[in-house]
Amino acid sequence: MRALTWQGANKLSVETIPDPEIVNPRDIIVKVLMSSVCGSDLHLLDGYVPTMHPGDIIGHEFLGEVVETGSAVTGLSRGDRVITVSIVGCGECAHCQREEYSCCDNSNPNPTATEVLYGQPCAGIFGYSHAFGGYAGSHATYVRVPFADVNVFKVPEGITNEQAVFVSDAVPTGYYGADIAEIEPGDTVAVWGCGGVGQMAIRSAYLMGAERVIAIDRFADRLHLAKKKGGAIGLDYTQFDIHEALLELTGGRGPDRCIDCVGMEAHTDNTLEQVYDKAKQQLRLHTERGAALRQAIYSCRKGGNVSVLGVYAGLMDKFPMGAIVNKALTVKSGQQPGQRYVSRLFEHILNGELDPSYLLTHPMSLEDGPQGYAMFKEKSDDCLRAVFIP
Ligand SMILES: NC(=O)c1ccc[n+]([C@@H]2O[C@H](COP(=O)([O-])OP(=O)(O)OC[C@H]3O[C@@H](n4cnc5c(N)ncnc54)[C@H](O)[C@@H]3O)[C@@H](O)[C@H]2O)c1
Ligand SMILES: [Zn+2]
Ligand SMILES: [Zn+2]
Repeated sequence: MRALTWQGANKLSVETIPDPEIVNPRDIIVKVLMSSVCGSDLHLLDGYVPTMHPGDIIGHEFLGEVVETGSAVTGLSRGDRVITVSIVGCGECAHCQREEYSCCDNSNPNPTATEVLYGQPCAGIFGYSHAFGGYAGSHATYVRVPFADVNVFKVPEGITNEQAVFVSDAVPTGYYGADIAEIEPGDTVAVWGCGGVGQMAIRSAYLMGAERVIAIDRFADRLHLAKKKGGAIGLDYTQFDIHEALLELTGGRGPDRCIDCVGMEAHTDNTLEQVYDKAKQQLRLHTERGAALRQAIYSCRKGGNVSVLGVYAGLMDKFPMGAIVNKALTVKSGQQPGQRYVSRLFEHILNGELDPSYLLTHPMSLEDGPQGYAMFKEKSDDCLRAVFIP
């Protein structure tokens, strides 16, 4: 089969490799129909996630068709149109039983790296380094999916491929971020980052009762979509002092809930902070460029919530713990436990309350994967998400 492989920092190539096979009885093989880029892949591409090996297949947001099922798989058959949640749960460990699928104890066959880094081993993620299980990713003709009964969902009639593909990752991530922000009716919610994740967090915040969402980014096309599709107020952080603007929009209090949809490669217009963060990150003295998260914590109203969806890998310098304590903030985070939300999200799509299809700005052949990532990384040609069709 053909697959888009990581060959080193900022090096991708499409290769011919053997097809995957069923390994365990609960596995299935999916023929990929669509596989999307995600901001998390940029952290791999830029070389900030360790334990990537040349030849690893990346990609974790995908839609496909079941072509083979393991002997213990029930409820799925050849020909079913399905999505797979990007973070793997087993369905049986104590965490999965509590619907904390992204904390699964059993889905990472290489537990040591994350156990050393984080204190406990973390769940496996498709195409996301050997530390996260070494699973082959979805930018390929076929992909092996473990624990299919837990991670795979049939797509209902009436939902298009262009809508369904994002229910694998961007949609449940945004929804989870709004959920853990504990939004109450009437709240003002600020969202940093208007990529696919931010766009879905904006929409989800409204679904959960927010009165007003303020979206922050610097790309005009993304801010435009946040307004037009999400109904948010857009703020370009290169044009405004974001803290001042947020105070002004909230009667001097600050937003009730702040959602970071940026992560460890935040950009800032504050040259000193950017140079400091970038230099330390490149010297491996810290792993995060934390401008967006620092700003969210600083701007959030007293007693409010900061929900962190952006991915961080290790240690952040100049983390404003004092603001968290003295403003009584609640900070929650996590990789998305999408299995908890997929059925609800399909219902929102069928009811017309949510339509993620506009995230797909660039449908492309898998053979053009390296160009798709270059475009997504540079945010050129108004690329919100490139989706590969093998
Ligand atoms: N928690 C999860 O389960 C999960 C799932 C998917 C993605 N993610 C993470 O979410 C983040 C966003 O993903 P995406 O696919 O939307 O990525 P993306 O690259 O498309 O979007 C990120 C956006 O952040 C903006 N940005 C950068 N610096 C900023 C700043 N200082 N203030 C405001 N905006 C800023 C960029 O301009 C860009 O539009 C990434 O860190 C990704 O790893 C997490
Ligand atoms: Zn992702
Ligand atoms: Zn589990």
